[in-house]
Amino acid sequence: MTRSQILIAALAATAMSAGNVHAQEDAVAMGKAFALETCTSCHAVAIDAVNDAAPTFIAIANDPEKTAQNLTAWLIEPHPPMPNLSLTTLEIRNLIAYIRSLKTPD
Ligand code: HEC
Repeated sequence: MTRSQILIAALAATAMSAGNVHAQEDAVAMGKAFALETCTSCHAVAIDAVNDAAPTFIAIANDPEKTAQNLTAWLIEPHPPMPNLSLTTLEIRNLIAYIRSLKTPD
């Protein structure tokens, strides 16, 4: 495995583990605060679409193909037109917790 594959596997495991409820709530809150600061120039986070090319976070949360592992891989190495924002592993973990909290209940 390459370094980036190891990182993806480790982060996805953290994002998927049930863990402690409070730690999960903290991750969601921190991910939301970070997303509002960093992602809203393109993505609709808490408001309507900003940049037509960028999917809303609710749409991402409801797409079954966007698993924690796929989202982690994307945030480590996004493709154009999304810029590489050089996120830390903690930022990525919190952002994924936040995005996944937006999923519409079945
Ligand atoms: C400069 C604009 C811009 C910023 C800032 C930006 N994105 Fe994106 N993002 C995009 C665009 C455009 C796409 C669609 C790329 C495509 O479909 O090819 C995208 C796609 C995505 C996807 C979907 C990837 C997939 O598998 O299809 C995720 C998840 C995502 N962005 C998360 C984030 C997060 C989290 C942040 C903030 C840390 C962020 N983006 C900041 C423009 C941006």
